[in-house]
Amino acid sequence: DYEGEAIKRAPVVTVMGHVDHGKTSLLDYIRTTRVAAGESGGITQHIGAYHVETPHGMISFLDTPGHAAFTSMRARGAKATDIVILVCAADDGVMPQTIEAIQHSRAAGVPMVVAMTKIDKDGADIDRVKNELVAQEVVPEEWGGDIQFVGVSAKSGEGIEALLEAVLLQAEVLELNAVPSSPGKGVVVESRLDRGRGSVATLLVQNGTLRKGDIVLAGLQMGRVRALLDENGKAIDSAGPSIPVEILGLDGTPEAGEEFIVVADERKAREVANFRQGKYREVRFARQYS
Ligand code: GTP
Ligand code: NA
Ligand code: MG
Repeated sequence: DYEGEAIKRAPVVTVMGHVDHGKTSLLDYIRTTRVAAGESGGITQHIGAYHVETPHGMISFLDTPGHAAFTSMRARGAKATDIVILVCAADDGVMPQTIEAIQHSRAAGVPMVVAMTKIDKDGADIDRVKNELVAQEVVPEEWGGDIQFVGVSAKSGEGIEALLEAVLLQAEVLELNAVPSSPGKGVVVESRLDRGRGSVATLLVQNGTLRKGDIVLAGLQMGRVRALLDENGKAIDSAGPSIPVEILGLDGTPEAGEEFIVVADERKAREVANFRQGKYREVRFARQYS
């Protein structure tokens, strides 16, 4: 399955933190300055996952709605995230969901990089944030710990290059590898039914390469990949490790966190999908009448 040469793959990052601490603003800033750069018309689509090129390498972001998605993915056994960016607003400090996010990252064994956001604001107090995080045993490198802390502003863009560099430095430590020549496999990020196009699923390829025409088994669903689209809605032929992609062609909408694999035999894939659907119905029926 994994024969072939292993290469370094990009880190997959999830941003977590307290409500209104600036998760979306940070992701938007990174996306608009990185993904849209040089593209006429800018961003036309938003697929809940995207990758950016930085001067020091590629990074993929899972734009999950936060803790709930992270938790439900993990409950399904999916380990989609390599690094958590823990967002903590410099004018507000550690709040209940900051602590929750720390607990989620730890439980999942995913290392953190801290983004102290809103440093442009009058009430910003970096030392206070650091002290409050130390109280949660999140200790900055400059204070003898092993966590990188970076102050950022999604308004001015200050610190965001440094944050991306910190993420890539953390990724180096993790030695993330994959074998692009193997069949594609990975995890479902989200899926929906589109009126015109049918099932549209966002997949994160974790290993191997997913190609147009491949037969994919994803949770209870299967199908031949009719089209692959990048985060801008542009048709592409294939997606390698750590690349998020939208696919058309599944016979339904798999759940976030389900595993997907490319299989050689369409008939086998259909058998497995049918079997899984039967099992699923049995369980549902049993629950309903117990
Ligand atoms: P939820 O998804 O609702 O939890 O919020 P969020 O963490 O995604 O925060 P969001 O990006 O929506 O930002 C919340 C508010 O803070 C918005 O009004 C932003 O404009 C503001 N904000 C975010 N980042 C910055 C920043 O770096 N500087 C300043 N001045 N304001 C910011
Ligand atoms: Na908000
Ligand atoms: Mg948000």
